[in-house]
Amino acid sequence: MVAEHAPLISGALPYVGHRAIRNRGTVCGSLAHADPSAELPAVALALEARMIVAGSDGDRMVPAEDFFQGVFTADLSETELLRAVYVPAWSARSGWSVRELSRRHGDFAIVGLACAVELDEDGAFAKAALAYFGVAGRPTRVGEAEAVLVDVAQVQDVRRGREHGVQRLEPAADLHGSSSYRKHIAGLLARQCLAEAAERAADRAAGRTSEPSARTEPGHERRQPQDHPDGHGTEHTVDVAPRRHLADVLREELGLTGTHLGCEHGVCGACTVAVDGEATRSCLVLAVQVDGSEITTIEGLTEADGTRGLIQRAMWEKHAFQCAFCAPGFMMSMSTLLADNPAPKREEIKEVATRGTSAAATGYHSILEGATEAVAMLAEQRASSGEASDAANGAVSA
Ligand SMILES: Cc1cc2nc3c(=O)[nH]c(=O)nc-3n(C[C@H](O)[C@H](O)[C@H](O)COP(=O)(O)OP(=O)(O)OC[C@H]3O[C@@H](n4cnc5c(N)ncnc54)[C@H](O)[C@@H]3O)c2cc1C
Ligand code: FES
Repeated sequence: MVAEHAPLISGALPYVGHRAIRNRGTVCGSLAHADPSAELPAVALALEARMIVAGSDGDRMVPAEDFFQGVFTADLSETELLRAVYVPAWSARSGWSVRELSRRHGDFAIVGLACAVELDEDGAFAKAALAYFGVAGRPTRVGEAEAVLVDVAQVQDVRRGREHGVQRLEPAADLHGSSSYRKHIAGLLARQCLAEAAERAADRAAGRTSEPSARTEPGHERRQPQDHPDGHGTEHTVDVAPRRHLADVLREELGLTGTHLGCEHGVCGACTVAVDGEATRSCLVLAVQVDGSEITTIEGLTEADGTRGLIQRAMWEKHAFQCAFCAPGFMMSMSTLLADNPAPKREEIKEVATRGTSAAATGYHSILEGATEAVAMLAEQRASSGEASDAANGAVSA
């Protein structure tokens, strides 16, 4: 439904961190956090969303343009919560595009742009919204450029409007780029996004679908927990303090020390486990949050007799490690990917096996090879057993 009525949101989400981050982060959490480099605040600004803020005196509605006030600062008092966000649907003649430059896919944007346009019947801009992120202390719309685009520019000639908007930006410099570099990238993104959004709007107006497909990006498909059985099937009851993380409880209370802790803030991926089948950073989840859930750890990827499971064999064959500290994390991420999709594309394998963890280093190529080998072994297993639909689950269960 979101992809149909507000496709800019669906288009932006694959840029937000990695699969294991998206599985737990919330929309209102991201908006309330007001990170100036985050995608969702810029999307909310471009789509003219309205925030419903709840306090002890009741609700108040705040337009997105007033909600984001500065770096990590939103229009929320200490006693208020962001309860909901309303996003107006754009017409059937609208198109969208979101692009960003970041060091690696999943990192916060150095410069990004969320763009939505609406075309009139002659194919000229009837409405345009350009919201940059990563260029100022809060997401920034370039209103003058939008007005110029609508007043004078045809879709084929947007240069004037683009330049107008970019000239007004005053990005700060940091170790990732100078102010002029960011301005240069902002101009490139405007050119690419406007062209893509206009093309999508024309497609949509002509009845050709251009919504982002929920199935093309890993992490969008939700499975039922029984699709991802815990290999050992053991039920644990543990009494834990509310402040304790899942990773600590797995390691210290249950002795499942295959789950490793590296950065302890969601970046390195070493602690990834599956919670009800979804890749999850166990260092970012409180143990009490998973009460009643099914957790699969790296120990659950082994066969019932304790020998290596399919993914572990593939990684072993290709020596797909560097020091192997983060290996449990990327194997867990791979197992959830294969449970979703037994024949992922190379880009999806890359995203999960290497970019979603700090595994890259010098192990990058062999990890990618190992992950690709796991896919090949799974295909072989499916072909020989003829149990295509169950093969992915077999690969990830012990
Ligand atoms: C490794 C990593 C990479 C990431 N990469 C990206 C990225 O590329 N792009 C991106 O946009 N984000 C990224 N994030 C951030 C992530 O996507 C979440 O959006 C963000 O952390 C908010 O998550 P949350 O919903 O769990 O909120 P929390 O982290 O729980 O909360 C964030 C803040 O908002 C407050 N808060 C939460 N919900 C509400 C509410 N309803 N009302 C009022 N206040 C509230 C909390 O008290 C806290 O101060 C990344 C995070 C990690 C760990
Ligand atoms: S991501 Fe959890 S320890 Fe690094």
